Amino acid sequence: MKKLDITTSLEVYDSVEELSEELQDLMKQAVEVRDQAYAPYSKFKVGAAILLDKGEVVVGSNQENASYPSGLCAERTAVYYAGAKFPGSRILKIAITARSLNQEITKPVPPCGACRQALVEYEVKQKEAIELYFMGETGEVMKAASVAEILPLVFDSNCL
Ligand code: THU
Repeated sequence: MKKLDITTSLEVYDSVEELSEELQDLMKQAVEVRDQAYAPYSKFKVGAAILLDKGEVVVGSNQENASYPSGLCAERTAVYYAGAKFPGSRILKIAITARSLNQEITKPVPPCGACRQALVEYEVKQKEAIELYFMGETGEVMKAASVAEILPLVFDSNCL
């Protein structure tokens, strides 16, 4: 019997102002799209802004549905849009922010498991890490250096 220990390493910034100007701008675009999210059921609005290698930014917000499971998270809305519109581009960074209409979210909100799985597909495809930055409405920003970092024991095409 062998035991495997998996560790995850994250960077934590006290606020968005600690990030580079480029990242503050990316997070600003995530905030703007977040506030336009269609989330009448959860009242939990999420925005994602993706920076591509040639400089384009693709954004997405969560899109809910009266048939709840038919809705889609912000991160997947954005990454599938990026894949559809810029199929030859590499994804460098993604900024994510969430805001609740019921309470102030002061802790970073990480992407859900299904979004991590969707995002890691592109990381494997492009053979280059995607940096993730995630925050709530205010407060700390967390950085993961790659999707794989927050998705240990990844299931990807290498498993097939
Ligand atoms: N949501 C996202 O957009 N991204 C996540 O990573 C987690 C959850 C959305 C889905 C749903 O519309 C609302 O937040 C509440 O779960």
